[in-house]
Amino acid sequence: MGDIPLFPESASTASGQFDIMFFFMVFLAVFFTVLVAGAVIYFSFRYRRRSADEVPPQISGNTKLEVGLMVPLAGLALIAFTWNAVLYMNMWDPPDDAMEIYVAGKQWMWKMQHPDGQQEINTLHVPVDTPVKLLMTSQDVIHSFYVPAFRIKHDVLPGRYTTLWFEATDVGEYHLFCAEYCGTNHSRMIGQVIVLGQADYEEWLATAGSTGSPTTAGDSGMADSGGTVAPEAAGAQLYESLGCAGCHNGGVIGPALDGIFGEEVQLEGGGSATVDENYLRRSILQPNADIVAGYQPVMPTFEGQVDEDQLFQLIKYIESLSSDNAETEQ
Ligand code: CUA
Repeated sequence: MGDIPLFPESASTASGQFDIMFFFMVFLAVFFTVLVAGAVIYFSFRYRRRSADEVPPQISGNTKLEVGLMVPLAGLALIAFTWNAVLYMNMWDPPDDAMEIYVAGKQWMWKMQHPDGQQEINTLHVPVDTPVKLLMTSQDVIHSFYVPAFRIKHDVLPGRYTTLWFEATDVGEYHLFCAEYCGTNHSRMIGQVIVLGQADYEEWLATAGSTGSPTTAGDSGMADSGGTVAPEAAGAQLYESLGCAGCHNGGVIGPALDGIFGEEVQLEGGGSATVDENYLRRSILQPNADIVAGYQPVMPTFEGQVDEDQLFQLIKYIESLSSDNAETEQ
């Protein structure tokens, strides 16, 4: 039998913080369990009935004692709440400068794509001391991306994007698991996160770029998303070939897409939406779900015409239109 460690390694900026919080909560639970159980046992002997006709004295409350117990306990609960809430919010709020990795789960493998287009399966190379944001989706059922050493886990869902982020603090190799039962080979849907030094990562990117064959990325069921072509470049080609520009050019038939990413748009019938990955995804697959105010519901759906990877590429292309024009568009 291999030796299974009691606790996984701690290798991200968040993992140490979560561990301290976890041990604090365990300490609180153990402390009060022992205190209450001990008091119950002690009092049951100390104040036991000593004769058959013994009548205990009547006690009717003690304000000082009650306030003295409740205030510190409430304070302790609030400290625990605030601490957890801060960690929790931090967990879902990736730094703005995080590099983005695209993750697609499918029965039964993990596919990853780096910002410049390098792809890998069941292995993820990342640079150390760098915030990494994962934009994740599933091509079939619900999976869950779990890296114990980073203390991160989140469901990966079909039909939408979810995100996770981490910043690895130690060079090394760490387990990656699927943590949601997803069918026959769920237990084999595992992999590795390989954390490299900055220079080694650059070197890895270069080799991954040169050995990958751009046109035949079809090994192991990888969808043909263009080898090491950056997603936004592949997206630009798709945008062209699908004829998106036919309507989305001057903002007459469909809204112009330059500079909309990250912005808030007003919707027909009231309400508004922030243009993010999930909004764009919905707008491409279910164009009539959210009509931008002032436009007609004339866009056909592209459901079935673009696969999951192509959808991602289109979204990255539209996002790139915003970063290019960040200065010129108000
Ligand atoms: Cu994928 Cu379990």
